[in-house]
Amino acid sequence: MDNFKKTPIPSFKELEQTGWEQKAADYHALIGGITRSAAASMLAGDTITPTTRLLDVACGPGYIAGMAHSYGANVTGLDFAPAMVKLAQQQYPDCEFMCGDAEELPFTAESFDIVTCAFGLLHLAEPERALREALRILKPGGRYLFTVWDTPEKHDFFRIVLDAIQTHGTLDLPLPPAPPFFRFSDPVECRSALGDAGFVDMEVKEILLYQHAQDATELLTMLEKSSVRAAMLLEAQSAGAQIKIKQAILHEAAHFKQATGYQLAWPVIMISAVKPDKY
Ligand SMILES: C[S@@+](CC[C@H](N)C(=O)[O-])C[C@H]1O[C@@H](n2cnc3c(N)ncnc32)[C@H](O)[C@@H]1O
Repeated sequence: MDNFKKTPIPSFKELEQTGWEQKAADYHALIGGITRSAAASMLAGDTITPTTRLLDVACGPGYIAGMAHSYGANVTGLDFAPAMVKLAQQQYPDCEFMCGDAEELPFTAESFDIVTCAFGLLHLAEPERALREALRILKPGGRYLFTVWDTPEKHDFFRIVLDAIQTHGTLDLPLPPAPPFFRFSDPVECRSALGDAGFVDMEVKEILLYQHAQDATELLTMLEKSSVRAAMLLEAQSAGAQIKIKQAILHEAAHFKQATGYQLAWPVIMISAVKPDKY
């Protein structure tokens, strides 16, 4: 019998949780400016009053929660990374934030009027569970809203990064299995998954956001310090491939140079759906 204990391989969910815990501050500093600008679009379709109960799932630094609170809603933000929850509470001290899992929400059925999930679904190991949980805790007639990034064909940052990895490295890596990153960038797939969960009245919109960078190296900093899934793809490459991938990213970024710096399109898919009245 061998006496060596094998170190257990972390699951995708564990890697995500560790990653966001470590990267909360850098995410807020480097990507937060972009995702925060989607918050107003997400909340534009609903009339918010002081009686509106809103849950922001995978709240990160709390942008949606903070904005909904400023509109008068009674807000709770939830994230499974304690560092994100702490950061959100510092940012928006008047809101309630808590640690919790999007796939197992710690709330009774029919407690919220609106549930939001901005750029969270694409990080979940079991997004169907999160959809079912959102449906469960919504009141009949309540609205679910989520955003994801558009596909690399339209999203400049992801296209540059994935092209560089495919050209100079590999996507065939020993990483734990995870749902496809761009699954919910497909409106047909969104409607189907939401319908399967029990939602109705799905609407899909595109929102065009931009990343403004002073220097091309900001793309690399963003990739390494403030993303989790994309950073894992880079870190799992050989040392030689990593150097070439980074050079290719800087080379491609030059195409986006304008007089005032670099401007990259970060298009967003925003989906809303309703819990049927008679559920
Ligand atoms: C890309 S960030 C989005 C943060 C914020 N919503 C925004 O718009 O900037 C993804 C967030 O999802 C959280 N997250 C990932 N999986 C989760 C899960 N199973 N339960 C709760 N939060 C989760 C991460 O901790 C992270 O804060």
